[in-house]
Amino acid sequence: MPIRFDSDKNVFYLHTPKTSYIIAVLENKYPINLYYGKRIEGLPDDIENIIPTRRDGGGSAQDMEGTNLSTDLLPMEYPTYGSSDLRTPAFHARYSDGTSVTALLYSEYRIMKGKKLLVELPCTYIEDNAEAESLEIYLRDALKGLEVVLCYTVYEKYDALIKSVRVHNDGNENIRIESVLSSTIHLYGSEYQAIHLAGAWAREQNLLITDFIGGKFSVDSKRGASSHNHSPFLALAEKGTNENYGEVYAMSFVYSGNFIAEADEDCYNTIRMQMGINPFNFEWVLEPGQSFQAPEVVNVFSQDGFGGMSRTFHDLYRSRLVRGKYRDTVRPILINSWEAIGCNFDENKILSIAKKAKILGIEMVVLDDGWFGHRDAPTSSLGDWYPNKKKLPDGIKGLSKKIVQMGLKFGLWVEPEMISEDSELYRKHPDWCIHIKGRRRNLARNQLVLDLSRPDVCDYIINFMTEILSDRNVSYIKWDMNRYMSDIGSASLPPEKQREIPHRYMLGLYKVLENLISNFPDVLFEGCASGGGRFDAGMLYYFPQYWTSDCTDAVERMSIQYGTSYVMPIAAIGAHISAVPNKVTRRSCSLETRGNVAICGQLGFELDPNVLNDYDVKMIKQIIEKYKQMRETIHNGDLYRLKSPFYDGMSACNIVSKDKENVIFFLGTFTSKPFSGKIRIKLKGLDKNASYSDKEGKVYSGEFLENYGFLFENVIDYTSYIILLKKQNNGG
Ligand code: GLA
Repeated sequence: MPIRFDSDKNVFYLHTPKTSYIIAVLENKYPINLYYGKRIEGLPDDIENIIPTRRDGGGSAQDMEGTNLSTDLLPMEYPTYGSSDLRTPAFHARYSDGTSVTALLYSEYRIMKGKKLLVELPCTYIEDNAEAESLEIYLRDALKGLEVVLCYTVYEKYDALIKSVRVHNDGNENIRIESVLSSTIHLYGSEYQAIHLAGAWAREQNLLITDFIGGKFSVDSKRGASSHNHSPFLALAEKGTNENYGEVYAMSFVYSGNFIAEADEDCYNTIRMQMGINPFNFEWVLEPGQSFQAPEVVNVFSQDGFGGMSRTFHDLYRSRLVRGKYRDTVRPILINSWEAIGCNFDENKILSIAKKAKILGIEMVVLDDGWFGHRDAPTSSLGDWYPNKKKLPDGIKGLSKKIVQMGLKFGLWVEPEMISEDSELYRKHPDWCIHIKGRRRNLARNQLVLDLSRPDVCDYIINFMTEILSDRNVSYIKWDMNRYMSDIGSASLPPEKQREIPHRYMLGLYKVLENLISNFPDVLFEGCASGGGRFDAGMLYYFPQYWTSDCTDAVERMSIQYGTSYVMPIAAIGAHISAVPNKVTRRSCSLETRGNVAICGQLGFELDPNVLNDYDVKMIKQIIEKYKQMRETIHNGDLYRLKSPFYDGMSACNIVSKDKENVIFFLGTFTSKPFSGKIRIKLKGLDKNASYSDKEGKVYSGEFLENYGFLFENVIDYTSYIILLKKQNNGG
């Protein structure tokens, strides 16, 4: 039983295989985070001794409802501001009398088998009720008629704690919600480091580890998307934590819009760590009888360092967040037209790429930007989703049919959430974009954002996408989104609901995506937002893979893919081999290194195969052949990061299939000094009692590989190695 209620102590235990989360309800009124960490079965008889109730003299801690307790000192399970607790709240609202104090008291609980899906939002799921248990804790503010339901799920198999929050207005007056975060935990002491993933366009998900020195540490997005700048992820780890050892508390948000993740330390060294929708510029008017569902946060506690944390995220996300046919099947190796030809092509050009791609062993041709309206550069036509007949005389239907007849799959790029000023759609519906009447409509990448808070705009997207996808030869969609929201306003919402737009937009987007993926279950969707500008757990619910970055330079990619793997399974990481010098960095890496980096993700190509020389053709065929041998392991295997591009001047990892039969070892180096010595890298996660052989027939014991490892000498700049190992049948 993963969830248990001890009625004597008024304590809830939520167990995963290796962790425990314990909530105590003090005075039968105040739920607190009593414990989160390594699994423990029980508590001392007298739990009073482990509850922080210390009060200083003076007026520093106010009592709560005449009790001896002050919520200002307690690790509140779902903190509100102003009625004793004066720290950063999870929930904050304004009431019709103009006041902003909420006082939530415990009322009841429910423990259920399984897990409910969240209404209108992406979420982790179950396939069988026996997989998980859920707890709902009901809190009420009787004066304001407010009910808050804290929802928790623990799985039998994964070391993750899923939290979300539902708010209901039971009263007679509107409640204006100003903050409704989804997860709060409390840690003690000051020996923590904050770990987050930050970046920019073409430099996504760089790993940053900084000492948490008290005060407040936060990462957020106000951009209308989770953004390139910060991933919706935050971890606090005890100092000295590495890939294999150390305690880590991590939060990942299953949401793709504005978010906040923060750690806030009070004067008694209690750190309140929280995550949820960014309260900045957020407001939601909850009318009597209405409910609001806040998205879910996946909390992971790992005792096995960052590696343990990532493997939990990977296992949960790839099996109980990603959905559809491509969850369990390896995905086609694709060639994408963007870097090779941009918007400048005709049907013959695409067919010539397809012909060569087929010879190389590529399985799908993806036509990127430029096929619709009169789009000859990324300056016009977004919204006009009909084929450009000058480039494609037989339309998409004609082209896709020809490509499928060649024995390849066909995929298409779209950017449905956007509109160009120079488009038929804009001329017809100038009000359909996000804008403020009377203000300049500021462009980014020459485009405006469609107002997906409007149901008519969502229907328009569903309709044209349905039209495109009813061509059964289209078996893949690259769903792009190339600018953030600015000048936020909606022509269809009243003044008091304007601050709801960014969240309403996300609900609209999720509704559209849900409609399309359920009506076209065989289509593979890949997400994209100028590369990884919205690569978050919310998107994984709809898109099993994501275009990780517009930077395809292999050396930069080592960092980007390493950081991304902190949360995302590597099978979700779109990684393409492109031509050199690289378009973003101007760097030239060998084809071997470009290949070795790309095959550690979801392999694709981003080049014109017609201009390859004989060596390149031979090499690419080998890369594809190798990838086909390893892609099952990429899809399902356990990732062990061995060397960090951020700290070690090189990137190394090994991936081990669940049955430990197959191992992929990768090493990629950066700049090196001549004759600077040997590099020895120990592998992880193997069967120590087995023997493994490489492609040349060299045999190593698992024990040797884990303790001695591989030795590399005189490694030069940007060299890389992939070593495939297979377990020998005869054991150790
Ligand atoms: C974005 C994407 C690219 C490509 C272009 C097309 O930048 O990230 O991969 O699709 O748009 O305009």
